[in-house]
Amino acid sequence: MKINRRDFLKKTGQSAIVLAVPAIASSILEGCNNNITNPTSDSSSLPNVNDTYSNGIVKLTVDSSSPISKAGTAVMLNYQNGQLLVDHPSVNTFNALSPICTHQGCLISNYDYGSYQFVCPCHGSRYDVNGNVVSGPAPSPLQKYQAQFSGSLLTVNVG
Ligand code: FES
Repeated sequence: MKINRRDFLKKTGQSAIVLAVPAIASSILEGCNNNITNPTSDSSSLPNVNDTYSNGIVKLTVDSSSPISKAGTAVMLNYQNGQLLVDHPSVNTFNALSPICTHQGCLISNYDYGSYQFVCPCHGSRYDVNGNVVSGPAPSPLQKYQAQFSGSLLTVNVG
């Protein structure tokens, strides 16, 4: 008995695979670029602040002139050995996070002041003030560092 290509694919179930592969590939690619042409359009570049580092501790003075003095703000903190995202979600509460996106390692440089979210400029991943992923393609939260605030001094243990 002679069998044509269509009947062969039906019998072997390969037609479903042939149809599914392009759909799966398309979904993976969408996950990578998220179809966002300008992911930072609704966010602002983080203000940069510089501060001191010694023996694994970063110290930042937060007074009334600091760009992070008001709740709801965030900065990129530059220190001797690196950078940190620091946000101030409520009175006397600060978070210190790695600025390296967990998707493909881009530097997270933007903050959406409307939703209090950090925005990765590469593919638009968003993180909340605790570093948790709000929307991907980032697969995991940002690394969080121990931060303490006393008087007007914020100290972050970066190890
Ligand atoms: S590196 Fe892709 S979303 Fe950040």
